Amino acid sequence: MKTTTHTLRKLKGQRPIVCVTAYDAITARLASEAGIDVILVGDSVGNTMLGYENTVPVTLDHMCHHTAAVTRAKPAAMVAADVPFAEAHYDFERVLRACQRLMQESGAEAVKIEGGALLAPMVARLVEAGVAVWGHIGLKPQQVHALGRYRKFGTTPEEAESLMADALALEKAGVFALLIEMVDHGLARTLSETVKVPVIGIGAGPHCDGQILVYTDMLGLSGGYVPTFAHKFADAGEQFKKGFAAYADAVREKKFPAA
Ligand code: KIV
Repeated sequence: MKTTTHTLRKLKGQRPIVCVTAYDAITARLASEAGIDVILVGDSVGNTMLGYENTVPVTLDHMCHHTAAVTRAKPAAMVAADVPFAEAHYDFERVLRACQRLMQESGAEAVKIEGGALLAPMVARLVEAGVAVWGHIGLKPQQVHALGRYRKFGTTPEEAESLMADALALEKAGVFALLIEMVDHGLARTLSETVKVPVIGIGAGPHCDGQILVYTDMLGLSGGYVPTFAHKFADAGEQFKKGFAAYADAVREKKFPAA
C-alpha cells in the first residue's frame, strides 16, 4: 500500500518511521521492496552521486532529474524531494515554482525545505497551495559555507530554545513532519514529545519518531567522509568491487563470454 503523509501522521507513537535517501530508479525499487516508508531524493545527491564536495552546487534541474528517476520506479514508499540551495529564501513565486516542477514534472509527493521559524510564513503559504512540506532544522547542510563546518546543534540552552521555537513555528505553518539533523539527543526527545507531527532524526539519537540515513553511507558505498552516526548495515561497496574484479578476470582469462 502506498505510504502518504496521512500514513506517517498515524504512525507517530505507533512504530518508528524508516526513511532513506535514493537518487535513481533501481535504488528506489530496492528500498521500497525492503519496506522503507519514505524515500528522500536528498540534495545529498550532490556529494554522493555527482562528485561535489557538499550540497550547495545542487540545482533544481539536478533535483528534478533524480526525483523523476525515483518516481518512475513507482515505489510504495512516499517520495519526498529536497528544495535545493537558495530556492526557498524568500521569494514565494520562486519556491512555489520549484515545488511545482518537483511535483508536476518529477512526481514528488512532498518537498523538504531546510529552514526554521523565519521560513514558517512561506511554508504556510505552500501548504495552503497544496504542497506537503517536510521541515528540516538543526544542522542545515546547505549552510555549510556560512557555518564553516558540520556540527551538532542544540547543546546550549539558547540554541535549544531557538530550535524548539523553529519546530513549533513550522508545526503551526503545517509541515507534515520535521527532520532534525545532528541535534542533541535529549533535545531531540523533547522535540519529539512536544510537536504532534512525526520527528525524523539523523544523528539525533534514538528518541525520535523515525530515522533517516543517506543510503550510500548505510550500505558501505560512500568513498570519502562518512558521519560517525551512520551505521554500516551492509558492505555493498565490497560486493560491487568483487563483481567488477570477477568480470575483469573472466574477460582477461577468456572465460567470458563462453563459446
Ligand atoms: O539531502 C539529504 O540526504 C538530507 C539528509 C539529512 C537525509 O537531507
